[in-house]
Amino acid sequence: MRILTGVQPSGKLHLGNYFSVIRKLVEYQNNVDLFCFVADMHALTTFTSAKNQTENTYDAVCDFLALGIDPDKCSFWIQSEVPEVTELTWYLSMSITVPKLELAHSYKDKVAKGITPSGGLFFYPVLMAADILAFDSDRVPVGKDQKQHLEYTRDIAERFNAQYGDTFKLPEPEIDEETAIVPGVDGAKMSKSYGNTINFFDDEKKLKKSVMGIVTDSAGVDEAKDHEKSVIYAIHSLFLDAEDKKKLQTRFSTPGTGYGDLKKALLENILDYFGPYRKERERIAADPAYVRSVMKKGSEKARATSSQILDRVRSRLGIGISRV
Ligand code: ADP
Ligand code: TRP
Repeated sequence: MRILTGVQPSGKLHLGNYFSVIRKLVEYQNNVDLFCFVADMHALTTFTSAKNQTENTYDAVCDFLALGIDPDKCSFWIQSEVPEVTELTWYLSMSITVPKLELAHSYKDKVAKGITPSGGLFFYPVLMAADILAFDSDRVPVGKDQKQHLEYTRDIAERFNAQYGDTFKLPEPEIDEETAIVPGVDGAKMSKSYGNTINFFDDEKKLKKSVMGIVTDSAGVDEAKDHEKSVIYAIHSLFLDAEDKKKLQTRFSTPGTGYGDLKKALLENILDYFGPYRKERERIAADPAYVRSVMKKGSEKARATSSQILDRVRSRLGIGISRV
């Protein structure tokens, strides 16, 4: 079983990223063939400066390493350092039409938000299909917002197989219902682009500000509170087992505890949980030579697979005479 996923290095990691994807990856690397990468080419669709691009990529690598991704147990690399993926993007583009790409929700949403409708933004799903198909992935853990991109990947793979002969496995999306949509501090989906995130690697002061900013209804200290409607509960429960969830529910339903206290309890839990990871992150980030060497080895390891798959693809297409 090969599981693959990518995360864009477009800002600080938040609880939505962690609970929907990253936590699972750290578990998976012990039992399955895990491939994960930092999608820096996708991040070019929202480019600000070369300096930010490099820093964000470096930060994302440090984040993953600190959170427990172990390069000896999985393949972990930076997308742009595996050139087979961009080559495959071109080949795959013959297996999807422009009208189909025009229907992509993510493209339409981003354009509606004012992001330039560049060719790259339009082509985003094809690059993502190449990320997945270049490694014969069986399953792809993602958040719900990526569901359609996985459908595009499967369509492209099926069409390619029909056009040129059986070449690609059809990957399955893996979308966890419980954590499919982690809410942000305003109750909408937690997302960098909505400015409603809780970034667990922020310093304590900023974290406190984010947690204290969670929206609540107007129930006072002396009133019972409905945990099911509470963003504080929705976020806090991600950290808890069944027994602790029950205890927290009781705190909500028993008058005497204000939202301020419930937020403080959440903040403490976040700090406790991520404390060791925060220390580890500082240590790793201060050693660029180590980070670079891990990434160099990571891309070599990933290319051992992608280069074989690309040989297969080129031969189906009859492309590249001197390579045969
Ligand atoms: P953002 O929406 O903040 O830009 P990304 O697009 O970088 O986040 O998401 C990285 C991964 O985390 C994706 O698989 C995405 O589906 C998942 N993800 C992001 N936000 C959430 C959320 N609020 N709930 C669940 N999963 C999420
Ligand atoms: N588009 C994904 C996101 O925004 C990131 C990504 C790029 C990805 N390539 C991928 C996820 C391949 C899974 C598999 O979250």
